[in-house]
Amino acid sequence: MHIPVLTIDGPSGAGKGTVSRIVAKKLGWNYLDSGSIYRSLAIALLQNEIDLSNINEILSIAQAMELAYECDDELVVKLDGQDITAELGTETTGNIASIVAAVPEVRRVLLQKQKDFKRPPGLVADGRDMGTVIFPDADIKVFLTASAAKRAERRYKQLMEKGIDVSIEQITSEIEARDCRDKERTIAPLAQAEDALFIDSSAMTIDEVIARVLSLVPQR
Ligand code: C5P
Repeated sequence: MHIPVLTIDGPSGAGKGTVSRIVAKKLGWNYLDSGSIYRSLAIALLQNEIDLSNINEILSIAQAMELAYECDDELVVKLDGQDITAELGTETTGNIASIVAAVPEVRRVLLQKQKDFKRPPGLVADGRDMGTVIFPDADIKVFLTASAAKRAERRYKQLMEKGIDVSIEQITSEIEARDCRDKERTIAPLAQAEDALFIDSSAMTIDEVIARVLSLVPQR
């Protein structure tokens, strides 16, 4: 049985998470937030006080971690039974995730965990290498981006709403550093798949992006 896959790749802050989650819900498909897998590993490393230069320790934590997802309006993630949803979105978690995500062996260990999300009736997969590495045969591929300034502004608003006090300059420089690390790494760099549709969301609302993505899915 053919299980359709829609991949949405792009840099942080382009709106991938919100768009993917809503599109998956509208289609009634499963949803893979692949960034949350790298983020969960980052949290496990922090909790276990693992030195980020110790690859063997990082790999054994990556292999052993048990992740459970509950997705309704919001994604709830449990790491070894503990709800880590609140810590998933922090800048520290994102920065550590991006550092360990550049390690080839880490990506290899986390590969199958991501492929396992492909289950009937379909999958929306969000990340950096969904269309290029994890699901190269995906039926529909999107590369969703926005200008760095716009992404920083959105992230800043999100953090302010959560009561987290940061400066827009700090967010912009963190976004630029993370983009650079994600694009320049030798393994599975952030890149547009040849057969992906490019969408620049800088001047679009989330609803417009969702409508555009849904228009790519053939009528079922
Ligand atoms: O998308 P999100 O910001 O949650 O991802 C956190 C980090 O995880 C990214 O900066 C990136 O380095 C890494 N990541 C990745 N491959 C993916 C998803 C995320 O390398 N498919």
